[in-house]
Amino acid sequence: MAIEDIVGRIAGDLEHLKRYTATPKAGCTRLPFTKEARQAVDYLKTIMAEAGLEVKEDAAGNVFGTLAGSDPTLPCVMMGSHYDSVVHGGDYDGIAGVICAVETARQLKERGIQPKRNFVVAGFCDEEGMRFGTGYFGSGAMLGKRDVAYCKRFRDTDGISIYEAMQAYGLDPNRIEEAAWPEGSIGCFIEAHIEQGPMLDAGNIEIGLVDCIVGIQRYMITVNGRADHAGTTPMDMRMDAVEAATKVISKIPDWAREKADGTVATTGFIRTIPGGMNIVAEQCEFTVDIRSRNNDNINDIVRRISAALDRETEAIGGSYEMDNKLTITPVNLSQGMLSVMEESCKEHAFSYQYLPSGAGHDALEIGQVLPTVMLFVPSKDGRSHCPVEFTRYSDLAKAAVVLLDLAEKLLTE
Ligand code: GLV
Ligand code: MN
Ligand code: MN
Repeated sequence: MAIEDIVGRIAGDLEHLKRYTATPKAGCTRLPFTKEARQAVDYLKTIMAEAGLEVKEDAAGNVFGTLAGSDPTLPCVMMGSHYDSVVHGGDYDGIAGVICAVETARQLKERGIQPKRNFVVAGFCDEEGMRFGTGYFGSGAMLGKRDVAYCKRFRDTDGISIYEAMQAYGLDPNRIEEAAWPEGSIGCFIEAHIEQGPMLDAGNIEIGLVDCIVGIQRYMITVNGRADHAGTTPMDMRMDAVEAATKVISKIPDWAREKADGTVATTGFIRTIPGGMNIVAEQCEFTVDIRSRNNDNINDIVRRISAALDRETEAIGGSYEMDNKLTITPVNLSQGMLSVMEESCKEHAFSYQYLPSGAGHDALEIGQVLPTVMLFVPSKDGRSHCPVEFTRYSDLAKAAVVLLDLAEKLLTE
């Protein structure tokens, strides 16, 4: 199969999948357990079956396609990424990696490569955590880290829990633990993904070899004050939740900057309740997402946030809750698999660069417990999590070539 044909197949799949968005013409919005998620999963099932894979959707909404090896009892090689998106996101984040994995399976079959162990293509559900403020729902379930209590605990901003959303989607959340794979059944995980940052595009580099992924903590913080009339309540007699919250929020970026090592902290969501122009806010809810290669930096910023919340809520006579939605430590990726991909880049004369990932990925969750590696493909101008996100199909096809080399080595040795 010539590289132009691989480009054509990848383009065909991704162009088709672009349709499955809740915001047509305004980027990809494919939240977990929605109609668009169902459409994408059904399409993935179809192309996996056409590629000759045995297809299965699990209790968490993940979709897997297996190319059987001669000894299916050996730990499998798994490759994939996620099919959900953020709101008004791009058409490549996550799904491009799933399609590269499907393409790898097609190539293995077409070239008559006889795997000794199973090759499993994975399309994970709810990596982004966009809807419930969490992250890595599907890959975490595969690793046995999700249970009914987890599904009942986290809710979207309309108050719908993961548990309820799964039921409406046609999955039984009481069976969530059935999504866990037996220990030892997965040998390693490989994820191709768009870079979502500017390094490769700026340097005209074709392939990124990812050596580590940052750790992340996410919180939903609620500051409680008291609702009052905005015109009649004197400034020293109000319990303004917005005043306390914003005094904390405004300091968080500088605490990250002080670390001066790439640590980042973001408040991407703020809501006031009841939310009226002439009402002192009773509550202010906001999120914080903190990331660093150095876990101590994350913990330090969390400590500072809670100390500042103690201080500022005391000043208004209010209170707060700090709900941890995600805690995940940084991971180093597999040197062995990186070396194989480096050799492949050299052999095909693809330019490459080692780089860390500031974005979270299913590989971050899976890399906590299994040998894992990631490959990045350039993102135009580094833009991502927005509708202008763009990656060339020809670059994804180069990634598929490297992925095939790695898969062939791992499956036949
Ligand atoms: C996912 O893209 C994340 O890094 O939040
Ligand atoms: Mn992603
Ligand atoms: Mn993303």
